[in-house]
Amino acid sequence: MTRFRLAVLAGDGIGPEVVAEAVKVLRAVDATSGHRFELTEDVVGGAAIDTYGTAIRKETIALAKRSDAVLFGSVGGPKWDDPKALVRPEQAILGLRAALGTFANLRPARMQPALVHLSPLKPEIVQGADVLFVRELVAGTYFARPKKYWQDARGGWRAIDTTAYTEAQVERTVRLAFEFALGRRKRLHVADKQNVMATSRLWRDVATRVSLEFPSVEFRAILTDALAMHLLYRPTEFDVVVTDNLFGDLLTDEAAALAGSMGLMPSASLGEARNRHGGYRGLYEPIHGTAPDIAGRGIANPMATIQSLALLLRYSLKLEREARAIETSIDDAIELGLRTPDIARPGEKTSRTSDVGDAIAAAVTRELRR
Ligand code: NAD
Ligand code: IPM
Ligand code: MN
Repeated sequence: MTRFRLAVLAGDGIGPEVVAEAVKVLRAVDATSGHRFELTEDVVGGAAIDTYGTAIRKETIALAKRSDAVLFGSVGGPKWDDPKALVRPEQAILGLRAALGTFANLRPARMQPALVHLSPLKPEIVQGADVLFVRELVAGTYFARPKKYWQDARGGWRAIDTTAYTEAQVERTVRLAFEFALGRRKRLHVADKQNVMATSRLWRDVATRVSLEFPSVEFRAILTDALAMHLLYRPTEFDVVVTDNLFGDLLTDEAAALAGSMGLMPSASLGEARNRHGGYRGLYEPIHGTAPDIAGRGIANPMATIQSLALLLRYSLKLEREARAIETSIDDAIELGLRTPDIARPGEKTSRTSDVGDAIAAAVTRELRR
């Protein structure tokens, strides 16, 4: 019997609603797999600002670092949205990514056959789409300095963000993306704006150099604006797409159109650090936010978070069988017609967040007892 230690940071809005369902599924794995999971919960985001005056406490960062992996919900909301505020909920997730050094953010977008009708794209175009985005997560426009918003001597407002990358920061991300491409359909695109941005020329040069080490992977460089268009016209032509922090943020929300809902988009953030079990000391979160428009109603789709838990079991805890059991159970729940409103047709019977969690937890129990 192995004991795993996980930090659970649910956050704000629908964060706690969807994380509760993932924890339910983890309890089912605990009860049937012979592995034990010790969960330590903590407050982050707006909730932490209200209680502690900061989006994430030092103690929470320390908890994350000594855990085998972190399961994260989402942070933010209108209550804390003053653009001039110095303390913002989003600092929790940005601070955690930086502190854990999780430089590569894997964001798979896959169209489930039963959900093809959900996509704004025509079925014949989106059928079979299966793209793995690898987004750089701890550098670039999000983190480089200077970054400030100030009033100059004449009283006019000014703002500056800096986009900066080192060769090493690009290389480690691109390399990991190539390694993942080897286990997939062996095609990799690097998305950049090399016609305008110096950092993009660095991305293209480094990706081209690293591609020589992976001769079995078909490598192409593409401008990000063009990729944003091709993704909607020809999504099945893409396998792995590696890109910088900001482009990756934008492209992966767009990619929700390939999966059918934001509620179906999981993520795994991996870096150099390993845990006591030799797996990645990773951070796992759905790509969606706190969904203030539906928070508190018990109707959020927990599948992205439950899928993120499956990725946690695979990459951080090396529990491939359990990860697969969760993935099969999500697929079965969809096949059987469990639908939160975001993935239901007009007039179709809908399920609540907790019904979906119950059904997946029960299916996981059956799978693991087999
Ligand atoms: P959002 O992702 O919260 O919501 C966008 C749309 O998708 C909404 O209509 C929402 O109802 C829907 N949606 C999202 N997740 C869903 C789910 N699981 N089930 C069903 N529908 C779902 O994006 P937003 O509204 O732009 O942002 C809201 C807040 O969340 C902001 O404060 C933002 O900064 C924050 N945010 C946090 C994270 C994070 O913590 N990692 C990520 C993205 C946004
Ligand atoms: C995401 C979110 C975050 C990001 C925000 C909340 C800081 O949009 O995880 O995609 O921009 O990285
Ligand atoms: Mn985003």
